Amino acid sequence: MRQPAPVDRRLLGISTGRPPVLSELSGSNSRCGAADPPVACPTCPPGWHPPIQGPKTVATAIISDIHGNAVALRAVLADIDAKGVERIICLGDIIGYGPEPLAAADLVAERCEWSLMGNHDFGVLYEPTNFNPGAEAAAYWTRDRFDEEPDEALRTKRYEFLGSLKVRVVDQGMAEGRSVLAVHGSPRRPINEYIFPDDVINATDKMRNLFSMVDDFAIVGHTHVPGVFTDEPDFYPPSEIGSNSTYKFLADEKAIINVGSVGQPRDYDPRASYAIMYPDRVEFHRVDYDIEATAKQIRDEPELTDWLAERLLEGR
Ligand SMILES: [Fe+2]
Repeated sequence: MRQPAPVDRRLLGISTGRPPVLSELSGSNSRCGAADPPVACPTCPPGWHPPIQGPKTVATAIISDIHGNAVALRAVLADIDAKGVERIICLGDIIGYGPEPLAAADLVAERCEWSLMGNHDFGVLYEPTNFNPGAEAAAYWTRDRFDEEPDEALRTKRYEFLGSLKVRVVDQGMAEGRSVLAVHGSPRRPINEYIFPDDVINATDKMRNLFSMVDDFAIVGHTHVPGVFTDEPDFYPPSEIGSNSTYKFLADEKAIINVGSVGQPRDYDPRASYAIMYPDRVEFHRVDYDIEATAKQIRDEPELTDWLAERLLEGR
């Protein structure tokens, strides 16, 4: 059977050699160069990219780290729909690791108002640098799934979607009178830096530095561990923040909120994780899904290591 020609990613402004630096990823105007400028571009003067003014008092569902687990994503989207929440945003790592990257990317493109670029989206689109062998193999396998799409227009559309993912967004409509900085990793290294719960004990200087870059709230993913960091600093998993896993915002308090992972939770709770942000609070939610179905899809694919299936069953 004739293999479809891969998309020439250079036509999309994507280098197949050296991965881009942040300034090449974000924003296209006379100053920083891409088609869809993110807000608060790290390379441009303040105010050049206006913050997003999200719809006020509207609940926003925040999903992250789907990792090609479309079974989990469909379950989470159904849960969001059942709660009547219409606005959905995504903090990245849509693909990588999981067995249905195309379905995951298509669903996020269709359902989310905007989405960020995670390190695995970056790794598939550019190069998977500093990945462990299993993650690197999964990234190349995922890229092959995008490349083998026979419909050229669809293939290009998907690559353009990956190329349009934002590095950071400031949303001023999500929480009452407070700004919300959205990044996949951390405020100072939006795509790659982890903020671990242990950092509140072992890396207090790092936490202080990160909070100095947050005006009010930040929302993050990347570690796959949900919870709330406060600037004491401290970390509160959803089980420790009060009834119904709801964190009420206090006046003048800063918080960095990790919404956990839809497709590969790592807090020893294998259910899919996401959050809903209201003007005065954030609610953490867990959703049962057919984990064994995704695990079987992974085991049936020789290029995806079985470990990726095992960790789903254990939530780690
Ligand atoms: Fe991730």
